[in-house]
Formats: sequence, C-alpha cells, structure tokens
Amino acid sequence: MRILTGIQASGRLHIGNYFGAMKPMIELQESGELFTFIANYHSLTTSKDAKLLKKLTLEAVIDYLSLGIDPNKTTFWVQSDVPQVLELYWILSKFTPMGLLERAHSYKDKVAKGIPANHALFSYPVLMSADILLLDTNRVPVGKDQIQHIEITRDIATKFNNEYGEIFTLPEYMVNDEVATVSGIDGQKMSKSYDNAIDIFMESEKKLQKRCNKIISSSTPMGEPLEYEGCNIYNLASLFLDEEGKKELQARYKSGKEGYGHFKKYLKELIWSEFEEAREKREYYYNNIDEVKDILNDGAKRVQNIANKKMDIVRDAVGII
Ligand code: ADP
Ligand code: TRP
Repeated sequence: MRILTGIQASGRLHIGNYFGAMKPMIELQESGELFTFIANYHSLTTSKDAKLLKKLTLEAVIDYLSLGIDPNKTTFWVQSDVPQVLELYWILSKFTPMGLLERAHSYKDKVAKGIPANHALFSYPVLMSADILLLDTNRVPVGKDQIQHIEITRDIATKFNNEYGEIFTLPEYMVNDEVATVSGIDGQKMSKSYDNAIDIFMESEKKLQKRCNKIISSSTPMGEPLEYEGCNIYNLASLFLDEEGKKELQARYKSGKEGYGHFKKYLKELIWSEFEEAREKREYYYNNIDEVKDILNDGAKRVQNIANKKMDIVRDAVGII
C-alpha cells in the first residue's frame, strides 16, 4: 500500500503541528510504503519572496528529518526535483471541468483572505492531483480541510480512466479523528497565526521557559489544591506523558503543595527533553548540508523512476509523442 503526504513549508513548527500532523506521519513509516515530499511548487502560489521560499523549503526538510523522517524507510524529496509532475498537471488539466475547481473551498477561502486570485491558486488542486496520481497512491493522510482535494483527484482520475482505461489508481484519504486539537498558551487552537504557539525548536531553554510562563492559568492561591481538568498547562504537559505520568501529575495538582509556576517549569522540562535528540540532529544536518542534499537526490531519483514509467503510459494514452 502506497501512502503519500505533501507538506507545505510554512516556517517555524509548533507543538500543535507536531502532535497533530508530524508525529502521526512519522508513525506511518512503520505501516506501509511512505512517500513524503515538501510541496514547494504549491508554496509558490502564496510566496512573495524567493529567498524566503528557498530558506523555508530547506528548513522544512531539515526539521522533518530531525524529528523522525527516516530516509531508509521513507522516500523523501522536494517536489520541484521531480518536474514530471508538472507535465502530468497539464495533461490532467484537460480532464478538469472548470466547475470542479470553482467549487473548491480552499481556493474561495484563500481569496476571501485577500490572496490574489491567480491561475496557480485556482489550479492548485490539479497539481495536487498530479502529485497523487503520478505515484499510483493508495492513501493520502490529510487534515479535514484537504478532503475536498482528494475528492477532486478522484473525479479527475475517473474522467481520465473512463476515456483511456484503468490508468490511474483512485486514492483514498485518511483523516485521523483521534488527533485532538492542541491548545496554545491562551487556550485557543494553537496556530502560528494567533501568536499563541510554543515552537518545537526554541533558541534556548530560557526562552522556552519564558514562553511557558505566559500560559494563561487560573489564579488559585498557593497552598490550595489545583484543578487539572481544563488547565492549559496540564493539557499541554499530558501530550508528553503516558498514563502513569498523567496520574502522577494529577496527584501533584491535587496535593496543594505546588503552584502553577512549578507546573510551568515541569512543562518546560518535558518539552525540552522530548526534542533534545531532534535538536541535536537538526544541528548536525545544518552543519552537513551535503548529506541532506544526498538524501533528497536519492529520494528524487527513486520518484523519477516511477514517474518516468507512469508518464510513458500517460503520454502514449493521450497521444503525445
Ligand atoms: P497553523 O495553524 O499554525 O498555520 P498549519 O495550518 O500550517 O498550522 O498546519 C499544519 C498541520 O498541523 C496541519 O495538518 C494541521 O492539522 C496541524 N495542526 C496545526 N495546528 C494544530 C493544532 N493546534 N492542533 C493539532 N494539529 C494542528
Ligand atoms: N495541499 C496540501 C496542504 O496544504 C499539501 C499537498 C500538496 C499535498 N500536494 C499534496 C498533500 C499531495 C497530500 C498529497 O497541506
């Protein structure tokens, strides 16, 4: 079973991204043939700064490698290193009725947010379809906002197959309902747009502590038992704890011997140690960029092999010599 995920490089990653998207993806490495790429052609639809896009692409590669993408288990590459996808995108465009794209929520949402309505933004789902269909993908793990894009992919593939035979595999989306929304320091959904996030890679332990100190908590005075249910600090800490760890923390809340300051310090320690290995790997990769490039080249070569075979079939079917 082939599983494909595309990642938009969007800057500093936070704990919500980690538990909501990255950790489940890293776990998928054990359950099938995982293909993962950084979708930099997609990021181009909203990028205004070439230097920044290059920087974010490399940062995303290094962050994902550091946090657990294992190039021995996962084929990992940058989208633009396999330009065959753009040829397929063009061919698929012919099988994409305008109405299909006009109904896309993500396009309408982006335009409503003030992003200029250009053709790349409009045809974004066709490029995503090409990513998926080029590799005969069976499953695509996505957030709920991306489900419609998988449905569009299926529609395009069906239209093509109706005309030329069973050339494309119809993909299915996988939505992980078990993944809960992680709250930020203000108790709202953690998001880089709300200035309430705790980053995975903070510059120093001191800065991380400062961020944890900003978590909004109730104002029960020291010496009284504290309520852990609904407490932002507890909720964040419990992401890093097993059942036993959670019970111990609950007991500490109830004992009344410690205040919120202690729990903020404990949370800082949990976060800092969880990502210790990843920080070391990240530093290593930044100092050994050639190794990162080798990993990406290997991934791109493997994907190009699959892509070339698929494109021979597709070109032949539609009449491109
Ligand atoms: P942001 O909201 O910070 O802009 P993105 O939209 O770039 O985050 O999200 C990237 C991935 O991380 C998505 O798959 C999304 O579902 C997941 N994610 C983002 N924020 C959270 C959160 N607070 N809790 C759980 N998952 C999240
Ligand atoms: N559109 C996806 C997102 O914003 C990224 C993406 C691009 C993708 N191509 C893909 C995801 C192919 C899965 C499969 O998150």
